[in-house]
Amino acid sequence: MCGIIAYVGAKQASPILLEGLKRLEYRGYDSAGVAIINGQLQIVRTVGRVSVLEDRIKEIGSLEGTIGIAHTRWATHGEPAEINAHPHRDDRHGIALIHNGIIENYTSLRKYLEERGHVFASETDTEVLTMLISELYDGDLEAAVQGALREVTGAYAIAVICEKEPNTLVAARKGSPLIVGVGANEYVVASDASAIVAHTSQAVTLEDYQVCKLTPTSFRTSTIDNEHVTPRVQELELELEQIELGEHQHYMHKEIFEQPNSLRNTMRGRINLREGRVVLGGVGQYARDLVKAKRIILLGQGTALHAAMIGEYLLEDFAKVPTEVEYASEFRYRNPIIEEGTVAVAVSQSGETADTLAALNEAQERGALTLGVVNVVGSSIARETDAGVYLRVGPEIGVASTKAFTGQVAVLAMLSLFIARRRFMSTEQSRELLGALECIPKMIEQVLADSDRIRQVTERYIDRENWLFLGRGYNYPTAMEGALKLKEISYIHAEGMPAAEIKHGPIALINDGMPVVFIANRGAQYDKVVSNIEQVRSRGGRVIAVATEGDKDIKNYAEDVFYVPDVPDPLSPLVTVVPLQLLAYHAAVLRGHDVDKPRNLAKSVTVE
Ligand code: AGP
Ligand code: GLU
Repeated sequence: MCGIIAYVGAKQASPILLEGLKRLEYRGYDSAGVAIINGQLQIVRTVGRVSVLEDRIKEIGSLEGTIGIAHTRWATHGEPAEINAHPHRDDRHGIALIHNGIIENYTSLRKYLEERGHVFASETDTEVLTMLISELYDGDLEAAVQGALREVTGAYAIAVICEKEPNTLVAARKGSPLIVGVGANEYVVASDASAIVAHTSQAVTLEDYQVCKLTPTSFRTSTIDNEHVTPRVQELELELEQIELGEHQHYMHKEIFEQPNSLRNTMRGRINLREGRVVLGGVGQYARDLVKAKRIILLGQGTALHAAMIGEYLLEDFAKVPTEVEYASEFRYRNPIIEEGTVAVAVSQSGETADTLAALNEAQERGALTLGVVNVVGSSIARETDAGVYLRVGPEIGVASTKAFTGQVAVLAMLSLFIARRRFMSTEQSRELLGALECIPKMIEQVLADSDRIRQVTERYIDRENWLFLGRGYNYPTAMEGALKLKEISYIHAEGMPAAEIKHGPIALINDGMPVVFIANRGAQYDKVVSNIEQVRSRGGRVIAVATEGDKDIKNYAEDVFYVPDVPDPLSPLVTVVPLQLLAYHAAVLRGHDVDKPRNLAKSVTVE
């Protein structure tokens, strides 16, 4: 996601736009830019934070004009670079556009526009939308925007201005947020209220497929089919400091609850259900190498390693490629054997983890083909790998990784099916699994609805200092992830391991009242998990189970049960992890800790 803001009225636009960008910077910050019309279109764009843009504008002297648009970017298509920063401009009419979202059919549209003589400068999907509006422009900006939006698929919140209509600002949305602040003969359009409340408390929240045309003295709302819509002006009752977090108390809570939408973005434009295929633009050119891979090595640390551990099961189950997972910090120093046909995959939210980057370089030097499964576009790992798949979950601010974990698992599932479909998997089986994957966001929404009860249950165990997290198969790594979440934000000692492992020593830890969390979804080893539960209970352990909806038997064994919807076992970590994320979150809040900045931790470990 990113931040967009636009202004039209009687005041100088530049200071309003820059102030608004600072309010929106939490939404994405790899590059920024502004476009203002003062007789002609002036555009300034820089890489880095908004302050870099502000300094550049000061160097230029000033940017006069009472209509403008501005953007702080979280890249999805095209590296964070000045050439890819917004606003983008067309090559014919002096049109400038800013965009939050993803234009899924940008490749075909770009080809169509190139055939009509348009010359592109960037790698972004956004520039394609800009040129499409330019292609359709014949003196009516609103109509050109409506016409273009009828042709695109994907998500957008946009603001558009044109030199030839110097008093007109057009905005529109579908799938990405956009609010229109209504002032006295002025309007402020922004991604969220944080950039608006300083100017007015009256606002209209646009609905999907709605377009608004603004001038200093007029405001018209319509659909992309130009049907008139009566705007509903509401009172903005938000305190600024609360706005960035919305109704959430912490970024971690916000990011846990963002997972349905962040996963929709991860999968957007990448699943072709009809053909049972996965479309991964970032690895397409290496499809044959992946199909012929003799071994895959997954590298990561912490949460990324746990996602990689699930990836190991997925790649062997679906793609039938021998796969192993390695702590990147161990791999880099143990003189690894890399043979012909080895693919090394670096899994990392930040793309800057020193150990993972070093391990990647080690594999690369020894001849491996390297892929990145990364969230931050243009990060070191993203730049140094031969190819990769971006998570597209948006900025993850909380130190404890949540939406990046589910994004990594979803990408590894799609990568596994991308290879499987080219090896032995039938269209039918692939279509079934992709269909189940597309349903996951809705299922996570069901689990999130249980958050209050999960907090109540957590409160009953909050005084316990030592926990175990146990799971089998796909949910052994999920158990590891649940233990890490609890450890790193509540400072409670917790250990995750395969459920069967407790008999080989750790069961000695079980004392009266010790909380033991079991992931006991209806998977292949359910009965074995139940017998492990009985072993724990008979020694006084208190069992909390994550189970499949409708499983009444589990209540005979567990003191508390968190239910999740029934999904195919290979995809179950995407739902079974959510109660564990919430348990850790509530434990940290109940213990009064700084959830988003836990002691001793950093969001990205860029040192060894
Ligand atoms: C996860 O909650 C932790 N913050 C940490 O383990 C993290 O996953 C690890 O440092 C790897 O970071 P990366 O994904 O940015 O490479
Ligand atoms: N997809 C657009 C880009 O990569 C917009 C990304 C965003 O929402 O910041 O430039």
